[in-house]
Amino acid sequence: MTRAPLPAAPVPKAELHLHIEGTLEPGLAFRLAERNGVPLPYAGPAELAAAYAFTSLRSFLDLYYATMAVLRRAGDFADLAQAYLGRAAAQGVRHAEIFFDPQAHLARGVPLAEVMRGLGEGLAAGGERFGVSTGLIACFLRDSGPAGALDCLHQLLDYRGQIIGVGLDSAEVGYPPELFADVFAAAAREGLHRVAHAGEEGPPGYIWQALDVLGAERIDHGVRCLEDPVLVRRLAADQVPLTVCPLSNLRLRVARSWADVPVREMLEAGLLVTINSDDPAYFGGYVDDNFQALARELGLDDDTLRQLAANSFRASFLAPGPGRAAPDRLRRAAPDGQRPAAPDPQGRAGTPARDPG
Ligand code: ADE
Ligand code: ZN
Repeated sequence: MTRAPLPAAPVPKAELHLHIEGTLEPGLAFRLAERNGVPLPYAGPAELAAAYAFTSLRSFLDLYYATMAVLRRAGDFADLAQAYLGRAAAQGVRHAEIFFDPQAHLARGVPLAEVMRGLGEGLAAGGERFGVSTGLIACFLRDSGPAGALDCLHQLLDYRGQIIGVGLDSAEVGYPPELFADVFAAAAREGLHRVAHAGEEGPPGYIWQALDVLGAERIDHGVRCLEDPVLVRRLAADQVPLTVCPLSNLRLRVARSWADVPVREMLEAGLLVTINSDDPAYFGGYVDDNFQALARELGLDDDTLRQLAANSFRASFLAPGPGRAAPDRLRRAAPDGQRPAAPDPQGRAGTPARDPG
């Protein structure tokens, strides 16, 4: 009897643009709502999922912040982190650099201690169980302003050993990166990595500011860079990683259709593109679902998909570059064959993944 061939295992990859709060699946949201006595304004998980029809980043953020009200105690954050790592591992993720939004929890009266304890425990247990190394990146909410970001950084420094970097997220337009120069400078003095969402809905000028004012080492999204050829040359020359999220771009109408998802154009321009899931519980797929959609919808071949996966390790903070801090929570190395073979302009390529010791 002939058997059907087993489906190919997903290519090993790192995930570099993932909001842990955006992995809150409707079923878990309802379990936590019940556990914590926090009502959700939907009859059940199916009705909640049916509300995921977004017209813009703002329309998504409103629901995202409202639904995370069910996250109250350390155990909730631990359950969330473990659930993500299980799903991510099944999609080939070996390493994840994970965003979280401390201000969104502080604003609801959830102590940072609960958030950090829960994420710490969930990532440690899930990382061990599913074989995924992790690092945490705390994002500042740009629509909460620079003073709020500075206050948040000061609170985070009590947990300095638990985070590898800082980022900038939430509503983009009207909140240019330069507003956050001071907090990013303070984070740099602490030896923290710096990344920023820029060029998702905002203009190319925001990407310039993220690079030149904030010192961002990676640009999250960055798809609007293609509107500025000088910026594209700069990003390509410096091999600045771009963490692109195709399903997110479609769901938030950053791209109107697959024809507008510019992954091919970005690769052809020599950009260091990585593929990520952003808020997979809300956008219809985890990271390998994004890879598969690129193959199906844009016709990307296996070699290109493998290149994108290799880029994800190269762009990760596993391979420190000049001036980079030693991430202390990174544990497992990228698998053989996934490390860059040739030096890149920043000298990161070929650096063995850090041995956690
Ligand atoms: N927070 C969660 N997802 C986000 C996104 N795609 N852009 C900006 N902020 C976010
Ligand atoms: Zn994002």
